[in-house]
Amino acid sequence: MSKKLWGGRFEKETDALVEKFTSSIEFDKKLYNQDIIGSMAHARMLAKTGIISKEDAALIINGLLEIKLEIEEGNFEFTSNLEDIHMHIENRLTEKIGPVAGKLHTARSRNDQVALDMHLYVKEKTAQVIKLLDNMCASLLKLSEKHADTLMPGYTHLQRAQPVTLGYHLKAYYYMFERDKERFLDAEKRSDIMPLGACALAGTTLPVDKEYTKELLGFSKIYENTMDAVSDRDFVIEFLSCASILMVHLSRISEEIILWTSSEFDFAELDDAFATGSSIMPQKKNPDVLELIRGKSGRVFGNLMAMLTVMKGLPLAYNRDMQEDKEALFDTAETICSCLEILPKVLLSMKFKKENMAKSVEDSFADATYYAEYLVKKGMPFRQAHEVVGKMVKYCIKKNKKLKDLSIMELKSFANAFESELNFDKATVVNNS
Ligand code: ARG
Repeated sequence: MSKKLWGGRFEKETDALVEKFTSSIEFDKKLYNQDIIGSMAHARMLAKTGIISKEDAALIINGLLEIKLEIEEGNFEFTSNLEDIHMHIENRLTEKIGPVAGKLHTARSRNDQVALDMHLYVKEKTAQVIKLLDNMCASLLKLSEKHADTLMPGYTHLQRAQPVTLGYHLKAYYYMFERDKERFLDAEKRSDIMPLGACALAGTTLPVDKEYTKELLGFSKIYENTMDAVSDRDFVIEFLSCASILMVHLSRISEEIILWTSSEFDFAELDDAFATGSSIMPQKKNPDVLELIRGKSGRVFGNLMAMLTVMKGLPLAYNRDMQEDKEALFDTAETICSCLEILPKVLLSMKFKKENMAKSVEDSFADATYYAEYLVKKGMPFRQAHEVVGKMVKYCIKKNKKLKDLSIMELKSFANAFESELNFDKATVVNNS
């Protein structure tokens, strides 16, 4: 049984149920690297300011490096007797170097320590997400350039509305993901602040050098207010919020492709490597990857709601409720990274059925607006042009014709302004840039 860090004041052992209930080691062991990096910087600062000796700092740092290796090589024992990753590492350090290990926690509390770990984690994940978003945007650009001339119906109310190009349609998603990137870049500023030195909540009387720790850890700023430093989880909420908006976009594009690959639309086909089959129906090719991306948006939104709710009633400063930030954050970070990793591969490998898309434009009178705008250019008020073309469409439906099949005589019977037969093809899709 390992010794509790608060042993001095207590006469009884902690109840086993309490230990189990309060333990976070199952999930916060993920923060081992951030915790060790933070502790090494803290030890260096303590030595620089003369709060501990250089020799003690060297012993501590070497011990921490060894522990990092033990964890990475699977030689580290995690136990439910020690509630979190901070206690595990400190306990192991004591086993390794003896009582000197006790000096590491000088001018520090687990409150600023865990806040630091979370800041480092969010910074790291944000950088990773931005890189993945870069790749997502590059893939969409590439596809939209390839399909700059691929005609398809644009929809409103999921009814064929006006012709667009597939390139233009995909470009809309490109801009959504560009905005996601901007949002993460901006949120990054709020995770790039160092909480260390705040200790439990009110700082310390010891002569710490926060500026030095900040430099060592690569932060841009230090929290101005120590109570804010230990109780701020805005940067976590912002990450979860950016992630939720991102999931809206990932889910929408997934939904779109699920529709396109259905027999009803038949606009595209998934590559075999990115589709799945059915165990009972031999003919099926299912878009499971896309359905899962769409489905995973649920947990990402849920994690945001969870964190907003955890934080909304907390008095200053640290409260144990805040331990609930971790699973939500880790789950969201891992979910969005895996979605961003796989979706570009699905997109780049799928085949688009250009003929079906073009036929769908032809069958749908999606070119009607262009006829109306032709008349507007000839001086007809738009409302009148709308009415004229509406009648033309009705006539075509009756005669089983398309607008472009109408002869000049027929066109003139609707409006004298028509001067020749018109054929609105991709050259007239104004927005295909
Ligand atoms: N496991 C805790 C958390 O995640 C670490 C901080 C604990 N601090 C405390 N005063 N009990 O929030």
